[in-house]
Amino acid sequence: MPIADPVIATHGLSCHFGDTVAVDKLTLEVHRGEVFGFLGHNGAGKTTTVRLLNGILAPSEGVARIFGRDPIREGSEVRKRTGVLPETPALDERLTARENLRVFGAIYDVPPGEVDSRTDRLLADMELADRADERVGGFSKGMKQRLALARLLLHDPEILFLDEPTASLDPVASRLLYSRIRELTHDGRRTVFLCTHNLAEAELLCDRVAVLAHGRLLALGTPVELGHRFGDAHDVSIDIGAGQAGLATRTVGGLNGFEAAVANDVGTTITVSRVKRDSIPNLVQSLAMAGVSVYRVTPREPSLEDVYFALQDDARSQGAAP
Ligand SMILES: Nc1ncnc2c1ncn2[C@@H]1O[C@H](COP(=O)(O)OP(=O)(O)O)[C@@H](O)[C@H]1O
Ligand SMILES: [Mg+2]
Repeated sequence: MPIADPVIATHGLSCHFGDTVAVDKLTLEVHRGEVFGFLGHNGAGKTTTVRLLNGILAPSEGVARIFGRDPIREGSEVRKRTGVLPETPALDERLTARENLRVFGAIYDVPPGEVDSRTDRLLADMELADRADERVGGFSKGMKQRLALARLLLHDPEILFLDEPTASLDPVASRLLYSRIRELTHDGRRTVFLCTHNLAEAELLCDRVAVLAHGRLLALGTPVELGHRFGDAHDVSIDIGAGQAGLATRTVGGLNGFEAAVANDVGTTITVSRVKRDSIPNLVQSLAMAGVSVYRVTPREPSLEDVYFALQDDARSQGAAP
């Protein structure tokens, strides 16, 4: 578990490009050791926030602090301890994997005596050891992305900003990268700030998630907390007796979320979607009172996806989104 040591803190952080408000009064803290998901649609302001936090852009208003330091005034200090994997990492395709890392080692002042050993270890960690001396131009997208991650780790940063790292990868390549990302924070020393629009990815990887829409923070919490707070709609499947499909349908078939009564090997399963937690006992009771034998009730917890869409709907109805 992350300890309460904010390595990133923003207060009222805003960034305007002319009339466009890319980041709108963002206030949040990220703690050492956590994988922090920064979730939002295209154009939500994720990349702009990463640039603000790394001193590449100056805020229009508000403050950002990394390790308590100002990323603009103390930029070089901050950037020694952070690393950014941009949306399209620029690797030199003419060079081999090993050469790409060496070039970066020099740029980032990695002690010359350590570059080779770190390079070997990182290439092995990223499952690229056997391709180390091949030109990067021939690599798959997944291999390039793992090499970019190795390059990012070369100067051993404490905070890693990963900007949509799997956006252009197929599921197999994404999965390989996921396990690497999860390992990054195992010792609790490193922190990952992961921008993504992929809800499944956020749910899988992140300790806490901030949901951003049109530059504004809509919600922040663990995926489970957000589920309870914002997505109180469970899909419930109920196992009942064989031959009771008709009786169940007559009893609860009129409910809004009623989907189906399906016979299977051992009995019948009915499914009702978007049931509020408080309504689950009533649902079970009405079935029992009608003479339906209820053997098992399985509510599926609201997923981050449910929360995300609920929040986006709210933001739209409040006029924050087009
Ligand atoms: N350099 C820039 N100049 C003008 N507008 C920009 C610039 N960078 C980003 N924007 C705008 O700011 C908003 C947020 O963009 P961005 O941070 O790239 O979103 P995301 O990374 O979440 O997709 C968008 O409306 C985008 O068009
Ligand atoms: Mg972006």
